[in-house]
Amino acid sequence: MKPCSSFTPLALLLPFLIMLKAIEGQNMINSTCKTSVINDPNINYDFCTTSLQAAPASRCATLQGLGTISIRLTRDNVTDTRCFIKQLMKNQTWDLYTRQCLSDCFELFSDAVSSVEEAMRYYSAKRFDDANVQISSVMDAATTCEDGFEEKGGAFSPLTKRNNDTFQLSAVVLSVMHMVQAGSG
Ligand SMILES: *[C@@H]1O[C@H](CO)[C@@H](O)[C@H](O)[C@H]1NC(C)=O
Ligand SMILES: *[C@@H]1O[C@H](CO)[C@@H](O)[C@H](O)[C@H]1NC(C)=O
Ligand SMILES: *[C@@H]1O[C@H](CO)[C@@H](O)[C@H](O)[C@H]1NC(C)=O
Ligand SMILES: *[C@@H]1O[C@H](CO)[C@@H](O)[C@H](O)[C@H]1NC(C)=O
Repeated sequence: MKPCSSFTPLALLLPFLIMLKAIEGQNMINSTCKTSVINDPNINYDFCTTSLQAAPASRCATLQGLGTISIRLTRDNVTDTRCFIKQLMKNQTWDLYTRQCLSDCFELFSDAVSSVEEAMRYYSAKRFDDANVQISSVMDAATTCEDGFEEKGGAFSPLTKRNNDTFQLSAVVLSVMHMVQAGSG
């Protein structure tokens, strides 16, 4: 029994353990998204896994951590879309109706940025119901923005993909929060 003989198997085992941990994290994302799709048919499974996997450190995250990550993703999305709308509004070639829609969307997304920031604070404080209200309003903002273009039959929306992304990400947040709440309640 040499003292270092027990050391060697551990060294061999370590990469395996790390790999196992990585698979576990993948499973956490996958199982969370699987449950999300069951809870809310609006959620697309591939969108959910792709979004969460792309976030830093998400593979090692707990369910609670995935909540924070998904709120952060929503915040970044909404903030970027607000900036994008501002850029679009600089273009003078839009017709009057589209310009009005863009202006409405800019207001909606400005409010959404504040809402998602509040949601983040509420979530950290485990005030899930309050966080839920804020994220729901972000979801409504995306829907209202998109509907604005559709109201005048055939008006082209330059924001369809972004509104859909915001809607989907918010739905994932609501679903994850629901799971966290169910687990802690
Ligand atoms: C998780 O889902 C992704 C994408 O759907 C898939 O490529 C991967 O194999 C899944 N991992 C596990 C551990 O189920
Ligand atoms: C918004 O989120 C979606 C899904 O994660 C992603 O594909 C897209 O690139 C994001 N958009 C921005 C502007 O961050
Ligand atoms: C302005 O919008 C028109 C389409 O409405 C587009 O063809 C043009 O490239 C845009 N200009 C700029 C500077 O983005
Ligand atoms: C919104 O995005 C999801 C996921 O990418 C997709 O399945 C769905 O068809 C999109 N909906 C619309 C209205 O574009």
